[in-house]
Amino acid sequence: MKDRIDEIRRQFGEDLKAIKTLADLEQLRVKYLARKGVIPELFEHLKEIANEQKPIIGQALNELRLSAQAEFEAVRASVEQAFKPKEIPFDVTLPGRPKPVGTKHPVVQTIEEFKRIFVGMGFSVVDGPEIESDYYNFDALNFAPDHPARDMQDTFFIADKVLLRTHTTPVQVRIMEKQKPPVRAIMPGRVYRNEAVSARSLVLFHQVDGIYVDKGVTFSELKGTLVSFAKQYYGSSIKYRFRPSFFPFTEPSAEMDITCYLCGGKGCRVCKHSGWLEIVGSGMVHEHVLRNVGYDPEKVSGFAFGFGVERPLMLRHGIDDIRILYENDLRFLRQF
Ligand code: DAH
Repeated sequence: MKDRIDEIRRQFGEDLKAIKTLADLEQLRVKYLARKGVIPELFEHLKEIANEQKPIIGQALNELRLSAQAEFEAVRASVEQAFKPKEIPFDVTLPGRPKPVGTKHPVVQTIEEFKRIFVGMGFSVVDGPEIESDYYNFDALNFAPDHPARDMQDTFFIADKVLLRTHTTPVQVRIMEKQKPPVRAIMPGRVYRNEAVSARSLVLFHQVDGIYVDKGVTFSELKGTLVSFAKQYYGSSIKYRFRPSFFPFTEPSAEMDITCYLCGGKGCRVCKHSGWLEIVGSGMVHEHVLRNVGYDPEKVSGFAFGFGVERPLMLRHGIDDIRILYENDLRFLRQF
C-alpha cells in the first residue's frame, strides 16, 4: 500500500507538470481528486489494511490527499491566470461619448442669413481680398484724392498704396472688371478701420455690399430690393423711409431707415429717441465707377448698397457692447 501511495504521488506530480490548458487541468482533477478519482479510491482500500497498519497508512493517505490538493490549487491558479480572457480595451456596447461640436459664430450666422435672403433674390455671393490697393479701395470708387477717409486716421496702411480694406465696396470694382453686365452679386467680408475700440466700434468688423448692373436698372429696383431685404430680415411689419445721402461711388445716394424695432418708432435709447434706425447706405452706381471698370454709362446702369453686419445682429439680440462678439467667451457663444 505504501508503494502504491508513493507511485501515485509520483504519477500525480508528473501529470501536474504536463498541464498546459484548462482542459488538462480538469482532466487531472477528475482523474485524481474527484469523488471517483484515484486518491479517494485509495481510501476505499483502507479497510483491507491490517489494524495496526491503519493509522500509518491513513496518515500517509491524508498527506497525499492534502498535498495533491494544495499542489493542484497552485497550478490551477497559474493556469487560470494565463488563460483569463484578456481585458477588453473598451466596451463596444457602451453608448458613444458625445464630442462637443462647435456652433457657428453669431456673426457667421448673420452673414449666412443675409446671403440666404439675397441669393433668394437672384444675387450671387463673391469674395475679395482683405489686403487691398489704394486703387480699388478709393480711386476706382471715385474718392477724391483729398477725401478724409484716405487719412491714416481711418485707414490701416500696410505699405505705400497698400491697405486693409475699409469697406467691402472695392469688391464691386473687382467683379465688374472681370464680368460683363449683368452683374448681380453681394460681397460679405471683413473690413478694418483705425478707430478707438469701444462698446460701439472695433478695428475689425464685417460688411455686406451688393451691386446690380444691367441695361436699364432703376432706382425703384434699388428701393424694391432693399425693402424686400428689410422685411425679410427685420420683419414684414416694419415701416421704412429713404433719405438723400452722399457716397463718392453712387449718384444719387440714399440711406434707408426702418422704424426702430425695439420701441416701434416711439423713440428709445437704441434709436437715440428718433424712432428710426439707419440700416443701409445705397445709390445708383456713379458713372465714374462704371467708366473705371470699362462699362458704358450710356448703355448700362446699376444700383449698389452696403451695410454692416454687427449692428443688426446686436440690435436683434439686445447686445449693447460689440466687443463681446470677439471675446470668444463660450458662455456667450453657446447662446447662439
Ligand atoms: N461703403 C460704405 C461704407 O463703408 C457703405 C456703402 C454705401 C456701400 C453705399 C455701398 C453703397 O455699396 O452704395 O460706409
